[in-house]
Amino acid sequence: MENPYIPFLMKIEDVILETEDRKIKTFILAFTHDDDRKRFVYIPGQFAEVSVFGKGEAPFGMASTPTLPEYLEFSVSTIGVVTGALHTLQKGDRVGVRGPLGNGYPLERFKGKNLLLIGGGFGFSTLRSLTNYILHDGNRSAFKDLTVIYGARKPGLLLYKDDLATWKKRHDLTLHLTVDQEAEGWQGHVGLVPNITRIVAPSPKDTYAVVCGPPVMMKFTLPVLKELGFTDENILFSLEMRMKCGIGKCGRCNVGSKYVCTDGPVFSQSELATLTGEAHF
Ligand SMILES: Cc1cc2nc3c(=O)[nH]c(=O)nc-3n(C[C@H](O)[C@H](O)[C@H](O)COP(=O)(O)OP(=O)(O)OC[C@H]3O[C@@H](n4cnc5c(N)ncnc54)[C@H](O)[C@@H]3O)c2cc1C
Ligand code: FES
Repeated sequence: MENPYIPFLMKIEDVILETEDRKIKTFILAFTHDDDRKRFVYIPGQFAEVSVFGKGEAPFGMASTPTLPEYLEFSVSTIGVVTGALHTLQKGDRVGVRGPLGNGYPLERFKGKNLLLIGGGFGFSTLRSLTNYILHDGNRSAFKDLTVIYGARKPGLLLYKDDLATWKKRHDLTLHLTVDQEAEGWQGHVGLVPNITRIVAPSPKDTYAVVCGPPVMMKFTLPVLKELGFTDENILFSLEMRMKCGIGKCGRCNVGSKYVCTDGPVFSQSELATLTGEAHF
């Protein structure tokens, strides 16, 4: 049996500075062995442990889409030891990647349904993966309407500007971008993500709502979705608890009786309510 603690060796192909505050960078990684690429089969919503040699490892959701399997992308917000060390790395440097880990988004359940994706902060990374996966020519017809609500404090903190520009031009996706306060030249919504969700008021009929972002955003989005008529089964959250092993061994990441690393990170609200009551963010 393969040792699950041994990472794939990957080379940094490029580093993209995403935000004007320089806190979030996207790392584009290439496998050093073709066999590893074939073994790393993932779906949107899964994550991996990325290691900086000599510093440690940390979990990050895949921001890339499996429909473009050559590279893995991770958008990393710098907050501490591993993320800080990652931010010093450059094109050509090597990192380790252990994964794919976790359950990911339930793509089979999504088929034939409308999807409402709601995100903010680096949590938007796996929703970007899901959006690009759905928009792929080979997948688009399997899903119905796609609506994305994505917010940041200000325009300069929005991630994936190229993708956003491409998505805006498409007729098979409705994109609502929002920032917290008015900004010069800004043409999108102004307001917090939960408020914009209430204003946009997407229909809950045949629709899954998928929410990933800062805990406060998820907490205040939940009652709005309920007001709009979404059932607990059709509201999904992706959690970003602190983790260590990522493979269900260390017990660092539990919510009630479940491990976020192996049972999640994606849970429906009905699952979360039975595990913890309402207060899980
Ligand atoms: C499934 C999953 C997906 C994730 N996806 C991403 C992603 O795409 N991009 C991204 O930037 N981050 C993501 N994270 C969070 C990321 O793993 C942490 O920010 C990272 O582990 C911090 O490592 P560090 O060594 O830099 O920080 P440390 O030096 O360990 O800690 C610095 C500070 O941050 C706090 N902290 C560390 N981890 C967390 C956490 N998970 N939640 C709240 N506070 C924390 C510590 O208590 C400490 O105060 C994800 C986490 C999970 C579990
Ligand atoms: S991180 Fe070790 S059990 Fe989940």
